[in-house]
Amino acid sequence: MVTCKCTTFSSLLLLLFLLSAANLVPATSSDGAYSYLLSSKPVSHTTGEKQSHFRFYWHDIFTGPNPTSVRVAEAPGTKNSSTFFGAVVMIDDALTIGPDLNTKLVGRAQGLYAGAGLKKIEFLMAMNFVLTDGIYNGSTIAIIGHNEVLNEVREMSIVGGTGLFRLSRGYVQARTFANNDPVEYNVFINHY
Ligand SMILES: *[C@@H]1O[C@H](CO)[C@@H](O)[C@H](O)[C@H]1NC(C)=O
Ligand SMILES: *[C@@H]1O[C@H](CO)[C@@H](O)[C@H](O)[C@H]1NC(C)=O
Repeated sequence: MVTCKCTTFSSLLLLLFLLSAANLVPATSSDGAYSYLLSSKPVSHTTGEKQSHFRFYWHDIFTGPNPTSVRVAEAPGTKNSSTFFGAVVMIDDALTIGPDLNTKLVGRAQGLYAGAGLKKIEFLMAMNFVLTDGIYNGSTIAIIGHNEVLNEVREMSIVGGTGLFRLSRGYVQARTFANNDPVEYNVFINHY
């Protein structure tokens, strides 16, 4: 079989390519052709990435005098829909460290969720966790995902972040223990 030789040969080519790739990146705007490219340098994937696990309680208050969750739009058929299909809800929900709303506030979940399921209660969630506590103050975590709210655990993607969470990725798991309870969000985020 020649497979082995071919593999070795292509590995060698790949290695040569990798070794020379750094040289292929144009020197920053030295020839003026790409003046909008300010730098382009190799990224080390071996340094410093860590995974943090946070637990927040997400309070979606849509009744009472001070709702933090308001329905802003719906489709003509939404009122007839048993799954809220077509409803769009804007939120600025408190994130606290305990299930009680009076525990420490560490951020807010800002964004929206929308009824996306025709047959089941499934929401599209698109929100930023905007943190305000201590070293995390000003950093945000961007979450987009599918939330089938009657499931015990709903997993959604972390698609990025800002501040301490620049270039981050990860996932969240949401759990609701009882009606009218806040939702527990366990956040698993890889960041630097
Ligand atoms: C809602 O359902 C009722 C009863 O089935 C029906 O008469 C009505 O046309 C429906 N409305 C919409 C907007 O689909
Ligand atoms: C977070 O930072 C903002 C802006 O720097 C500041 O006004 C605010 O007091 C800080 N919040 C907390 C809880 O430290």
